[in-house]
Amino acid sequence: MTMKFADLFSLLEARKSCRSFQSEVLLKPEEIKMIINAGRQAPNPLNQQPWSFVVITADEIKKKLRQAGEKAKQAVLDNGGPGWVGGFSIDFIEEAPLVIAVLVDPRKGGLGDYFNQPAGSIQAGSACMLNMMLAVTTLGFGTLWFTFFDPAEVRPIISVPDNLEIVGLLFVGKVAGDVPSSRRRDPVIYADHFGVDYESV
Ligand SMILES: Cc1cc2nc3c(=O)[nH]c(=O)nc-3n(C[C@H](O)[C@H](O)[C@H](O)COP(=O)(O)O)c2cc1C
Repeated sequence: MTMKFADLFSLLEARKSCRSFQSEVLLKPEEIKMIINAGRQAPNPLNQQPWSFVVITADEIKKKLRQAGEKAKQAVLDNGGPGWVGGFSIDFIEEAPLVIAVLVDPRKGGLGDYFNQPAGSIQAGSACMLNMMLAVTTLGFGTLWFTFFDPAEVRPIISVPDNLEIVGLLFVGKVAGDVPSSRRRDPVIYADHFGVDYESV
């Protein structure tokens, strides 16, 4: 292993959430395989590898996902959520040349169910998702991890079986325009006990 921290950190910084894509620049099948291969290297409880993937490229499916996103926006507004949601454009749903749905099987979450930690499969799926995002970044494309939908609306669109959970939709494509960096707050770090300042950082 010769990778330097600086190289890894550059990659971490280069990954930013993109919300505008060039529809016409497609990913090659080999690239899609590389992305999924990166995902499946993620740590996961008992190595049960709870994930599966739906690779979405069909325009009619993206259109339905867009409709699910618009319904989600409306639901937020109808339920007194923040008004800015009304102006939040989700055009990227139809722009992105590639969408990968990451699904997990909650029965493959390790032994956490025995001691009040039922999220193992989602945690594994999240690690998988981030691996994929970083892999996409190295290929020169942008990503967005998207969860702004009612799963009940999205399930039938891509035929997700009832026993699986949707970790998220990963939008992938060549970025259109500039992507601003999101500000990071100072980390909250304690020493030995929550609430005890860790001063040496
Ligand atoms: C679990 C999860 C769900 C997210 N869902 C959405 C989403 O539905 N829509 C969206 O625009 N961004 C979504 N994001 C992206 C976050 O808004 C973004 O990561 C955050 O603002 C930090 O920006 P950065 O990714 O550019 O560093 C999601 C991120 C995560 C980890």
